[in-house]
Amino acid sequence: MRLLVTGGAGFIGSNFVHQTVRDRPDVQIVVLDALTYAGSEASLAPVRGSVEFRKGDITDAELVDELVAQADVVVHFAAESHNDNSLHDPWPFVQTNVIGTYTLLEAVRRHGVRYHHISTDEVYGDLELDDPAKFTPETPYNPSSPYSSTKASSDLLVRAWARSFGVQATISNCSNNYGPYQHVEKFIPRQITNLIDGVRPKLYGSGQNVRDWIHVEDHNSAVWAIIDGGRPGETYLIGADGEETNQQVVEAILELMGRSRDDYDLVSDRPGHDLRYAIDASKLKEELGWEPRFGSFTDGLAATVAWYRENEAWWRPQKDETEARYSGLGR
Ligand code: NAD
Ligand code: DAU
Repeated sequence: MRLLVTGGAGFIGSNFVHQTVRDRPDVQIVVLDALTYAGSEASLAPVRGSVEFRKGDITDAELVDELVAQADVVVHFAAESHNDNSLHDPWPFVQTNVIGTYTLLEAVRRHGVRYHHISTDEVYGDLELDDPAKFTPETPYNPSSPYSSTKASSDLLVRAWARSFGVQATISNCSNNYGPYQHVEKFIPRQITNLIDGVRPKLYGSGQNVRDWIHVEDHNSAVWAIIDGGRPGETYLIGADGEETNQQVVEAILELMGRSRDDYDLVSDRPGHDLRYAIDASKLKEELGWEPRFGSFTDGLAATVAWYRENEAWWRPQKDETEARYSGLGR
């Protein structure tokens, strides 16, 4: 199989490439990545020599056409992915998430290539804290932020291209990922690296917002289950029943790093901050037999803390610029 992976130098994409090289030696991988602030060739260092890397933009129709023409399957991870950035400057989100996805869809349509679209649970908006409900594939779209609205837009393009043009496309909507190679702008690596630097963790608002955490390896094993057995035109939700309040996550990180559990600061809230996400992954489990392998969030978090301690050379170049961006936002 010849696989084109967009965004393969980012957090989830690079982990996907590592896993695929490890578990599927028969797959030939080409990574297309623009190396924005969020992408790093260093994230692919462990698999250098096993994958072909092409630096380029998914909105570049000529380049995309050339690479899609040589592929059997496209897995589309590339995106502008951070909510806080989208609130500050939405344009790159429209450009990459909407126009970039359109560019890929037109290429897979021309060349009859199988396409898997990586998306997020945030397209469904949020749930009340005390609501027993979870998101299902039938939940209506109701995105809150510029980021999630551009991801919702891209999902709708995929659904239309599947229905109207017969593109062999599947979509997955996953909850919050954690693990190695995640940019330090994101919640968990930001707090771990702050603590390494002697800075107290920062919780937005009350700290009571809930996210449904899944280890990145579990997300990617689900993506492979969908590539292998998913039905074209279908949407699969990926989650591992990992609901935690942000405060609980920070307390767990503080404990793992040998600090007092209340050693954090509350800072100003994110505008429009979604309250709670929760995934019902039963369709994926029942139809494709997928199960998460990382049973314990605390164990996964401990391994993630250890990874950031051991890989300062990977994250250090991102840190000052990221914290300067946050201090401009007052967070
Ligand atoms: P990331 O920001 O870490 O990585 C994004 C990658 O895409 C980077 O390598 C970047 O250089 C590349 N990229 C950005 N714009 C590009 C462009 N125009 N052309 C080519 N490459 C470009 O993101 P991530 O957290 O790894 O997320 C990957 C995908 O998974 C995204 O589609 C995101 O919406 C989705 N997702 C993320 C999460 C999560 O918790 N992080 C959860 C569910 C879904
Ligand atoms: O749900 C899937 C989504 O998860 C993905 O689609 C996004 O790409 C990914 O970034 C993530 O979005 P969130 O906005 O949930 O993730 P983030 O890491 O930015 O924040 C997680 C929670 O932590 C959120 O409630 C905001 C809060 N937060 C974040 C930061 C950076 C803090 O309390 N303090 C912080 O310093």
